[in-house]
Amino acid sequence: MKIISHITDMQRWSEARRLAGKTIAFVPTMGFLHEGHLSLVREGKKRGDVVIVSIFVNPMQFNQQADFATYPRSLEQDQLMLEEVGTDVLFYPNAPEIYPEGFQTAIEVDKVSQPLCGAFRPGHFRGVATVVAKLFNITKPHFALFGEKDFQQCVVIKRMVKDLNFDLEVLPMPTVREPDGLAMSSRNARLSPTERQTSLCLARALHRAQDLVAHGERQASSVLQAVQEIITGEGGVRIEYISLCHPETLEEVAEVSGPTLLALAVWVGDVRLIDNCVIR
Ligand code: PAF
Repeated sequence: MKIISHITDMQRWSEARRLAGKTIAFVPTMGFLHEGHLSLVREGKKRGDVVIVSIFVNPMQFNQQADFATYPRSLEQDQLMLEEVGTDVLFYPNAPEIYPEGFQTAIEVDKVSQPLCGAFRPGHFRGVATVVAKLFNITKPHFALFGEKDFQQCVVIKRMVKDLNFDLEVLPMPTVREPDGLAMSSRNARLSPTERQTSLCLARALHRAQDLVAHGERQASSVLQAVQEIITGEGGVRIEYISLCHPETLEEVAEVSGPTLLALAVWVGDVRLIDNCVIR
């Protein structure tokens, strides 16, 4: 696996692959990799001739400095994992490379950035859209793979790609879960053993909602109440939001009629966890 840290080197590498007729798959990450990321790389290898993975903990998308500072990092371990799944290039820039002095441009994807996580993390999706647009221009992929655990992020990126005519395909991939149902996330490492057990209420709540709808419930308020009861039944948990909304516009719905996104953000102790499912 080649490691590239400079933007111009990365652009040159990708341009050469493109001229040779190769297709490039790209997996952007913030490191501290887990099976969820690796499944994106494996899928990327199936779809493209070469796979680039980026690791960059993007300061622009953290609205709390402490969250950025404590974001887990593990470069050596990440490198080993990426090599094992056959990554061709790790793009690993530092912050001044991405945001040099004088940097002052940002991408704002309007409506779909506002609800859900956007309502609680001001500026988060502005930071995500801006860095992802830069990474697309740097790595020049044909496909970019994102995990659906960050469902709103997928919606925001898809909108940006469409609105700004990026010449690439965004491929959202299903959430990878632990055997007991917890969605894989770099943040899970911060859970104490008790919190780890408590956090299973998220997956339980999603199942309950799917079950209710499968048995004929259509009122969003009833489904949301059942979800809330399951989560608040656990000690040490605080709900940030629970929402039933349209999976493309992210506008809240009053009734479940057609595919509907159930999205949750929950604090378990000091750890913020998100999860979601599309109820069909
Ligand atoms: O999902 C992430 O890890 C980040 O938001 C991303 C897409 C790498 C942008 O920094």
